[in-house]
Amino acid sequence: MNMEAFPPVKGNYNLKNYEEMYQHFNWKEAEENFSWHQTGKINAAYEVIDRHAESSRKHKVALYYLSQTRNEKYTFNDMKKQTNKAGNVLKEKGAVQKGDRVFIFMPRSPELYFALLGAIKLGAIIGPLFEAFMEDAVKDRLQDSAAKVLITTPELVDRVPIDELEALETIFLVGEDIKEEGKFVDFLKYFQTASNELEVEWVERNDGLILHYTSGSTGKPKGVLHVHHAMVQHYQTAKWVLDLQEDDIYWCTADPGWVTGTSYGIFGPWLIGATNIVVGGRFSPDAWYKTIETFGVTVWYSAPTSFRMLMSAGEEVVDKYSLSSLRHILSVGEPLNPEVIRWGYEVFGHRIHDTWWMTETGAQLICNYPSMEIKPGSMGKPIPGVEAAIVDDTGNVLPPNQMGNLAIKKGWPSMMNTIWNNQKKYESYFLLNEWYVSGDSAYMDEDGYFWFQGRVDDVIMTAGERVGPFEVENKLIEFPAVAEAGVIGKPDAIRGEIIKAFVALRDGYQESDQLKEEIRQFVKNGLAAHAAPREIEFIAKLPKTRSGKIMRRVLKAWELGLPTGDLSTMED
Ligand code: PRX
Repeated sequence: MNMEAFPPVKGNYNLKNYEEMYQHFNWKEAEENFSWHQTGKINAAYEVIDRHAESSRKHKVALYYLSQTRNEKYTFNDMKKQTNKAGNVLKEKGAVQKGDRVFIFMPRSPELYFALLGAIKLGAIIGPLFEAFMEDAVKDRLQDSAAKVLITTPELVDRVPIDELEALETIFLVGEDIKEEGKFVDFLKYFQTASNELEVEWVERNDGLILHYTSGSTGKPKGVLHVHHAMVQHYQTAKWVLDLQEDDIYWCTADPGWVTGTSYGIFGPWLIGATNIVVGGRFSPDAWYKTIETFGVTVWYSAPTSFRMLMSAGEEVVDKYSLSSLRHILSVGEPLNPEVIRWGYEVFGHRIHDTWWMTETGAQLICNYPSMEIKPGSMGKPIPGVEAAIVDDTGNVLPPNQMGNLAIKKGWPSMMNTIWNNQKKYESYFLLNEWYVSGDSAYMDEDGYFWFQGRVDDVIMTAGERVGPFEVENKLIEFPAVAEAGVIGKPDAIRGEIIKAFVALRDGYQESDQLKEEIRQFVKNGLAAHAAPREIEFIAKLPKTRSGKIMRRVLKAWELGLPTGDLSTMED
């Protein structure tokens, strides 16, 4: 690895002197930026929209939306009205009340943002679902959360197993020619005539705001609950890390089905009052560069897989567009390769700033800042107000340059509040009731920079999306030909990791490429495209412990041609 460092960039950044701020910052100071500091009334949707609509930012553009068929813009004042209208529809036609779980399963569109914020204004807990989810993934999440209301589209509603969702009372369909029957309600019909006045439901700081389901190495996806008070950190990091300033045009490429798409696609930027870009449609290098050029994007937050795809598309594509508006670029979700930083520096003329955090942490924790030197390959340093350390398995803090568990001192503002229906699981994240243990291994160097080394568990990060091998294995064995299956992440130059499945067939089935493809499609259609194994290898028998647990580490070692380590627990 090339260890050259990128020096700090000169400029008028929000976080001017990291070291000094780290010494003195206290989260209480951040609270003073919110209206509840004076009024005692709290609601995240009020803070992100209404507060600006009632200020000199009233006519500032909050949202630009662009897709194949739509090109729209909304000021903060427009957003206030639209979210009020959506809130009224949800209240009147869906009886949404404080604490209800309202799920949103639709492609990115202005209505998604109106509905999501409208529901928050009613005090509901929102659950955004990624549009690529298929039936099993949708069912698990709606069942576990006992969602009362779902907002979706006619195209996606077929993936909702309505008969198996007892708690689900109302399904709003956003689209044309909606038949109102059973639980279905035509969202747009009522939206058009709804009042644009709505009383915001004031909540407590620790009342639920949002549920993001995420995967671990075992069990079904778990619902990570974040509360309204998390916005203190969304705000502060949008300032320090995204460095958002008054005239920035900000683009976060993540879908709101993932935590980056809400914490930094909704809350962070709009708490600051920035102009936010949302684009519909699929990834293509041309479309992405065109977005930057068209809107004059100044701050851009994306993921290593996307940067690697742009990099492999070549500089000729970059040269077709004017990207001179860019001033600050950030990345999250997987290790950011030093080559990518060097490439970005060459083609964009800017450093790409890596940021580390997780669904559970709710907001950025370890980051690179414009005013700080970047060591390519390092995730950076903890934000002021946060203490990070490398600890051993019993919670002892390890000295610099020693690899161990990346851990965060409990109690930062955006820390998850619980795991839905599973307080035990929540508690299992903590060591000595003091350290939140991330599941990542890392080390800290002598200058206090953190270096990611890998996952401690079997969780797979593919193209920035977190996939639990257990879920994929469970789906695989539902396929009639599959007797047993073991799933691992296999290193991949573009996607970071791809999903590889080792499959043992039942007697009477013949190995073939066609069968592999059928198995792949089965997972894709049941779970989600990103969860389907890109590679399948048939094997006679899977390595298992005597108690029958699949030994994924052995599969991984085979795959990588590495020593398999201690096999004493393996069955014969
Ligand atoms: O393994 C780490 C990886 O992504 C995991 C969290 O995934 P998720 O909850 O889906 O959230 C992703 C976006 C917030 C982490 O445990 N990860 C995240 N950021 C980085 C990273 N790995 C290396 N470098 C990063 N900057």
